Amino acid sequence: MKDDKKIKNSNTVYQTAEDQARDYFLTLQKLIQSGSAFQTLEKDLDSWRKKLSMSKILSVPTKLMQNKEYSSYIGWLTKAGILTNYLDRSISYIYLRDLGKSLESEETRGEIHQVVKDLEKDLTNSHIGEPFSLVKLYRWAQKERIESTFIWLMDKLKLVSDYIPENMDKDNAKRKLVKIIGGVLLHEFDEMDEDTSSSERVRRLDQAIRLGYCYGLTYPFIDDLLDADVLSDHEKKQYSELLRTTFVERDVAEWKEWEGENEALIRFVHQELGEAFSYINKQISEEIREKFFDQVFIFYQSQEMDRERDLSYPDFTNEELYLPVILKSSSSRLLVRSLISNQDDEVDIRTFYYGIYNQLSDDFTDLYQDFQNGAVTPYTYYLAYHKDRDDLINPFELYWAVISYLIHHVYHSDKKTTHIILSRAINGLKRNKARLGEEKYHEVMNVFARNIQSFHQSILHVMNQTNDVDFFDKLLRDHMLKTMKQEREEKTAFINRATEIRSELNNTLLIDKNQELNEPITDAANYSLTSDAKRLRPIVASMVATEIYQLDQTAINPLLRSLEYMHTASLIFDDLPSQDNASFRRGRPTLHETYNSAVAELTGLFLTQKAYEEQTALDQFETKNVLELIRYSAKVTADMCKGQAIDLEAKGKQLTLSELNQMCYFKTGLGFEAAIMMPMILAQASEDEKKLMKKYAYHAGIAFQIKDDLLDVEGQKDVIGKPVGNDQDNHSSTFVSVLGITNAKKAMWEHYCAAQESLSAMPERAKFLKYLLDYFVNREK
Ligand code: IPE
Ligand code: IPE
Ligand code: MG
Ligand code: MG
Ligand code: MG
Repeated sequence: MKDDKKIKNSNTVYQTAEDQARDYFLTLQKLIQSGSAFQTLEKDLDSWRKKLSMSKILSVPTKLMQNKEYSSYIGWLTKAGILTNYLDRSISYIYLRDLGKSLESEETRGEIHQVVKDLEKDLTNSHIGEPFSLVKLYRWAQKERIESTFIWLMDKLKLVSDYIPENMDKDNAKRKLVKIIGGVLLHEFDEMDEDTSSSERVRRLDQAIRLGYCYGLTYPFIDDLLDADVLSDHEKKQYSELLRTTFVERDVAEWKEWEGENEALIRFVHQELGEAFSYINKQISEEIREKFFDQVFIFYQSQEMDRERDLSYPDFTNEELYLPVILKSSSSRLLVRSLISNQDDEVDIRTFYYGIYNQLSDDFTDLYQDFQNGAVTPYTYYLAYHKDRDDLINPFELYWAVISYLIHHVYHSDKKTTHIILSRAINGLKRNKARLGEEKYHEVMNVFARNIQSFHQSILHVMNQTNDVDFFDKLLRDHMLKTMKQEREEKTAFINRATEIRSELNNTLLIDKNQELNEPITDAANYSLTSDAKRLRPIVASMVATEIYQLDQTAINPLLRSLEYMHTASLIFDDLPSQDNASFRRGRPTLHETYNSAVAELTGLFLTQKAYEEQTALDQFETKNVLELIRYSAKVTADMCKGQAIDLEAKGKQLTLSELNQMCYFKTGLGFEAAIMMPMILAQASEDEKKLMKKYAYHAGIAFQIKDDLLDVEGQKDVIGKPVGNDQDNHSSTFVSVLGITNAKKAMWEHYCAAQESLSAMPERAKFLKYLLDYFVNREK
């Protein structure tokens, strides 16, 4: 197609969509003007109230009311005997809104019943746990045999979060992406049945996740980025132009010059969107592709129109206000559908009608924030101009008109549907009322409900009369946001604490030199000790000692030094020409390169002895325990030597997975185990506790070594501070050489999960071990 023709084509697509939106809008307007929307709904509410007054009102414990904490809330629902109802309402709603289904269909009701049953079993059987923990998700991926897709996605999410500018909401961006992927997966699950073969199932789930990511990218990088204050006006213009060309051409426009500060960001987005577009183009059929890109254009265009408006302009018509809103909200849902599902006009049309319902409900929630930002939404605009413009449609009235239309026209007054949609609306109002407070809520309602007061009274009655209008997806959303925030804070605290321990330790590691003696060993040891190292073993030991066992920080300092001396010694040996023959370590030439092998060997031995000397200085603890610690330490050192020897013997050989695990446990895992066990010995921890911790240390240590093997292939020399590709040069037997990169990653995540799972039996004080493990597998050095 010629360029003008493409533009014309896109414009026609938009106009057709706009005509459809206009028809819908006029219908809704009539429902308001004739008052029939409110009359019918009032009857619906009345019959609901009659039913309510017969059942007794559930009293929710006040604390639970204010703060619907995930697991206690589920527990309460179970005890009150309303969990099934609650889940049924929630799942049915998802089928209506996200899948465009109708509850009038027996098949749909059957599917919902099954999902509710499974979910209920999952929620009540075991202890609830985190619904979205990485471990739980990874275990699910394993069950579906899509681990590599999952790992791919985690890498992508990490990349996205690295690139999202600091002043944008990273948590929310990630949450939205995940939500989109979830939406696409939901459609895909719905399309599959018992006849889908297991390999087909794997293929389709993989595709759904990748498509979801590709499309989901548009949220943080188009929507949010253009809304945020990151790009300058001039940059926004260039970016919009780039996007417009992309959507008209259906292919990412070529990279041109960029004027502005955010070139790196936009280059990344350009690259990622380019890959996403070509993936989508490859995966979907010709027929679906047309529909998909039409919706993309409609979505983009309506968003642009929506964004360009200014709250200070007093003369927008109702159509100018509402048509883009109808279009953007429905096209975003239709897009997700068109990525996966077979064509179904009825579903499409229901999806189209549904969109604005959710948009208006979100806009109401964001009213004040939007108003402050000068953003035009139906709510902010009405708030600003309702006094001067009696022609303006009231968005709250329109909201109920949509509800009435959905219930009585789209879903033919189906009883269950009526109840669910009304519950959702009442729940939304209750949430807003709780958030705004009684007074403010009534102030808002004085504006928005002023023409429909008696109807609003009915709503208020129902709001006061029932507590049973909650939804599972909202509970999950609240919980997810809360958890993400909490985990971000805890992670920061962990990193800050680790940084602190590291710099304190760095100040006390140097070994004094006897100036009268002319020898190279002390300098050589200090050369190794002053290079840039992570100091993980002392950091772990320090946290176990002080956070779990409340040992005195200064009393354990000798232990921290001893651990680092021992570890540094092991690296000096490991790098020797007779072992891994490495020329670079901790960002510097290795010790034998700077001095010579003999000095390096002697320094290794010297540091091991220094480690024992330090241990004997643990004089604040019971002698018996100190002796036990030294005995343990000697055994670990001896075992680590064996591990290292197995490693060296394995050069050029293909170890089995169990041999690999064993070797890594001996050469690396034991070092971490010691960092955990030694403070536990000093703290006289019980054997049970030690056993639990050893399990964690075993898996965490191996995960650490697998990451090390991966970094030897995927890392960068100046970041990791040691040579890249050394293992390959040595023909070493590593997780990567034996299993390949993908399977090495799977093995790493398996150990990650096993270690995290072992934490569930540990006290809250041990929570830092979770962040330590996250660091192990995500680190870049
Ligand atoms: C490297 O240990 C040796 C392995 C067990 C893989 P680290 O990665 O902890 O190295 P430094 O101490 O930070 O240099
Ligand atoms: C290290 O394994 C094991 C030791 C405890 C020395 P590697 O040989 O993979 O460690 P790097 O990669 O050289 O640090
Ligand atoms: Mg080695
Ligand atoms: Mg090595
Ligand atoms: Mg290595």
